[in-house]
Amino acid sequence: MGAPIPVRVESADQAASQLDRRGRRLRDLRISVIDRCNFRCPYCMPEDQYPRDHEFLGKAERLRFEEIERLARVFAGLGVHKLRLTGGEPLLRRELPVLVRTLARIPGIDDVALTTNGSLLAAHVDALREAGLGRITISLDTLDPGTFRAMSGGRGDVADVLAAIVAAERAGFAPLKINCVVMRGTNDGQVLDLLEHFRGSGHIVRLIEYMDVGTCNDWRRDLVVPSAELRARIAARWPLHELDPNYGGEVAQRWAFADGAGEIGFISSVSEPFCGDCSRARLSADGRLYTCLFAGTGCDLRTPLRTGADDATLAGLVGAVWNARDDRYSEARSEATLARRDRVEMYSIGG
Ligand SMILES: C[S@@+](CC[C@H](N)C(=O)[O-])C[C@H]1O[C@@H](n2cnc3c(N)ncnc32)[C@H](O)[C@@H]1O
Ligand code: SF4
Repeated sequence: MGAPIPVRVESADQAASQLDRRGRRLRDLRISVIDRCNFRCPYCMPEDQYPRDHEFLGKAERLRFEEIERLARVFAGLGVHKLRLTGGEPLLRRELPVLVRTLARIPGIDDVALTTNGSLLAAHVDALREAGLGRITISLDTLDPGTFRAMSGGRGDVADVLAAIVAAERAGFAPLKINCVVMRGTNDGQVLDLLEHFRGSGHIVRLIEYMDVGTCNDWRRDLVVPSAELRARIAARWPLHELDPNYGGEVAQRWAFADGAGEIGFISSVSEPFCGDCSRARLSADGRLYTCLFAGTGCDLRTPLRTGADDATLAGLVGAVWNARDDRYSEARSEATLARRDRVEMYSIGG
């Protein structure tokens, strides 16, 4: 048995303001600090659609650090206690530790985390630690240099990511989460090597089903390797057993190597959707609030922020969006929803 699921106690007023139409509470905020990326992963930002001269958001369009901090305070007042910085590639945003420091000091925020492709991390990891960053998730789809190169759109070097992992360990960030998006015929045959590398390290590899987020990646269901299939392949080599969730609404199903060599997470948004407990809101780099990975439109918070809205007004806006939330896209996935062309791209809201 795993640890008991912790329960947070909040005032009745606060609890009421945080519930969506399905009774789900607002707890986590993912903040995309930039929409640019130095990689072109085919499942997220394919090179042919995002060439080097692609026009991303301009500096004035992106929220400034003070604006992000102000919104984070508003969200904390509505019950958010976990923040995750993401992108695009968040380490392309200059002075990221400055933002981390201010966010980590917000009353009610007890966890500031980062998701990164790791390519630029080694140089910044000590400053991030010192600024109060709590946890890091590093994306790494394969150890094979050629496949890695291809899966970063010809831009990344797996050695940089492995060096970043060592640097993050030294800086005190272990255990890390290692995100691996599995695509059939591309890297699924290399998953066992990846697991073998991290067995016994304490780091948790999370195997993510290739998702139909956005419309630029030409997603096809036959390219998804369902977690059950992957689990069977892994268990044929290393027997596994299931673990209890750490907390309600946890995205990954937790499994462990029976020989004690560590844990694996399975994120099965396609084969076993998990909208039921979803507590995450997402803020794009230009200040739009999205309530689902598969949303079409976001609520513009940047305009009220820049035209003098006070905190109570901003909180009212966010609360109203959350209260009206009814999303359960993954569970309701169908040909009709797949055909929608208005779905926000992953690099805009950061996963
Ligand atoms: C959008 S990225 C942003 C942060 C950073 N650039 C990185 O790659 O870690 C966040 C996470 O989303 C994952 N991701 C992107 N597109 C995906 C897709 N179509 N299906 C599943 N996961 C995806 C990435 O692998 C990464 O772990
Ligand atoms: S998954 Fe991350 S690293 Fe890859 S293109 Fe998207 S934002 Fe960049």
